[in-house]
Amino acid sequence: MTDCIIELCGVTKMYRSKAAVRNANLKIYRGEIVGIIGKNGAGKSTLLKMISGHVYPTSGELHFFNRAAAGEQSFFERMGVLIEQPGLYPNISAYENLKLLAIAYGLSDRETTIEKLLRLVGLDPKNTAKVKSYSMGMKQRLGIAVALLGSPDVLILDEPINGLDPQGIVEIRELILELNATGLTILISSHILEELSKIATKYAIIHQGEFAEVISKEELQQRCEERIEISVEEAREALPVLERELKITQYKVVDSRTVYVYDEHIRIRQIVQELAQHGIMVDSISRHKQSLEQYFLERTESAGERHD
Ligand SMILES: Nc1ncnc2c1ncn2[C@@H]1O[C@H](COP(=O)(O)OP(=O)(O)OP(=O)(O)O)[C@@H](O)[C@H]1O
Ligand SMILES: [Mg+2]
Repeated sequence: MTDCIIELCGVTKMYRSKAAVRNANLKIYRGEIVGIIGKNGAGKSTLLKMISGHVYPTSGELHFFNRAAAGEQSFFERMGVLIEQPGLYPNISAYENLKLLAIAYGLSDRETTIEKLLRLVGLDPKNTAKVKSYSMGMKQRLGIAVALLGSPDVLILDEPINGLDPQGIVEIRELILELNATGLTILISSHILEELSKIATKYAIIHQGEFAEVISKEELQQRCEERIEISVEEAREALPVLERELKITQYKVVDSRTVYVYDEHIRIRQIVQELAQHGIMVDSISRHKQSLEQYFLERTESAGERHD
């Protein structure tokens, strides 16, 4: 994943005097699944619209494929986009919807392509029911099929799991992972961090138009993992006690004074007592546990109000 295919440099979108997105900097690498997380009105759709060429930034720059693309238009053709509502014709079937688009795109081998696509997203190509009778989950699947029609390299999905039931969420997640495994780079937005936690490789948390944080999956996992944080004068003196007396096997020495303990069986009181008995004073000790949603809320509430 060393190949940066999209880069946002200080991208801003103003609507009158209000910034929908302000000074966004982000690098997207080939093969990533990037989760854009933000509350209602945070700027997710505006950001995705700028990346997909539906809206022009007021300032800042967007670079595609290491700035080596033949032209921006050709890059946009390599994107499949589902933003807000998929533009579907309600009175015809899923197959017919895709066929109309395939004709408009000038695709050859239409029947095979459409059948394959419908199966891929979990819809029956033989289903002649009108799209207006589809459930929300089926419409989202069809929307993803529409986005995939031109065999894109990058798939942009704006809240594709919004309003789906738990089963639908799991299915769309699995579909996204399958698509990613075929080599697609995916940008996906949501207002719930937890929803994307099982699939995204990187998260951009957006708050009032600004990125509050861009964080990798690994970093996020680390920050939200459950552990006991122990601070002592000399961490290496505490280790034999933790290992031998308390039978702790999962721990990490973070710096010369700090140890994180991951074993679940252990209690804070036991650690303090045992260390004290061995003449080691604990400067501080606490259980660290943060849910993904708490993490998200902290980043989107403590940022304070912006003054335009
Ligand atoms: N065409 C527009 N004209 C004026 N203001 C706009 C326009 N589009 C978006 N905005 C404003 O920009 C801000 C960001 O909107 P955006 O739709 O990008 O947020 P969002 O994160 O997608 O929200 P939601 O979760 O509700 O979809 C909002 O304050 C919105 O009112
Ligand atoms: Mg939106």
